[in-house]
Amino acid sequence: MFRDLKDVLDGLGYGFYYIPETASTNDWAAAACRNGCGCPALFLTDSQTKGKGRLGRSWSAEKGASLTFSILIRPECIPERIPCYTEVFGLSLCTALRSLGVEKAMIKWPNDIVVSGKKISGTLTETAPDLSRIIIGTGINLTKKAYPDELAYKASSLEECSSLQPDISCILSAVLKNFEKDREIFARSGSMKDLVRRYDSLLVNIGRKTTVTENGNSVSGRSSGIDELGRLIFQKENGERILVHSGEASVSGIY
Ligand code: BTN
Repeated sequence: MFRDLKDVLDGLGYGFYYIPETASTNDWAAAACRNGCGCPALFLTDSQTKGKGRLGRSWSAEKGASLTFSILIRPECIPERIPCYTEVFGLSLCTALRSLGVEKAMIKWPNDIVVSGKKISGTLTETAPDLSRIIIGTGINLTKKAYPDELAYKASSLEECSSLQPDISCILSAVLKNFEKDREIFARSGSMKDLVRRYDSLLVNIGRKTTVTENGNSVSGRSSGIDELGRLIFQKENGERILVHSGEASVSGIY
């Protein structure tokens, strides 16, 4: 099982851990990290019973319907730049999916992947309390069973929006190869400097009316891309330009 994937992971220097079911791959990776697990490492499951989404939401995953994994890495930047890994990974994931034939995959800031206005993947990035490790956990909807029918207006899956066969080894190999390249580019300058152009070319927010909610405050306007620190460059309706560090950006016409 996963022999091809293991070969790729060996080549990239990744440890590999698989379990048929777990509560949350992010929590599993965090526990492994506390127990001295080496980096980088991949934690993969078929089924997640207590998965966590961004902003306190839940994210469950049924066997066969989702690709559910977490990556444990050591940051290669100053602590203030760690949040950039959220965008670096979103870029790698989107690039990998496109290379596999999901041609319309786009990034919704900071790192959701959307196709034709519907979300197919979400990522939750967490850090160890001492900031020495980062856990990047992702769920990719493989089939429509990955989400409830009532979310069909805003969610989609690889089977519905592409001809990509849901081959877990193949998708993970492409994602991790891209991530290794992109995180090396990021580490060289310690910023998104050399990745911004590619990121912006895939960013669905650009030019569209967007409402940003940060720390409970919502503002409407338009975004023109991200800056070197991964912050969303945002022009409010009154013309004022602000930089958004974190939070939620809902885009007109995109779920
Ligand atoms: C979101 O869009 O809200 C982020 C969803 C992140 C879900 C993934 S699934 C694997 C990893 N383990 C978790 O508990 N959450 C992330």
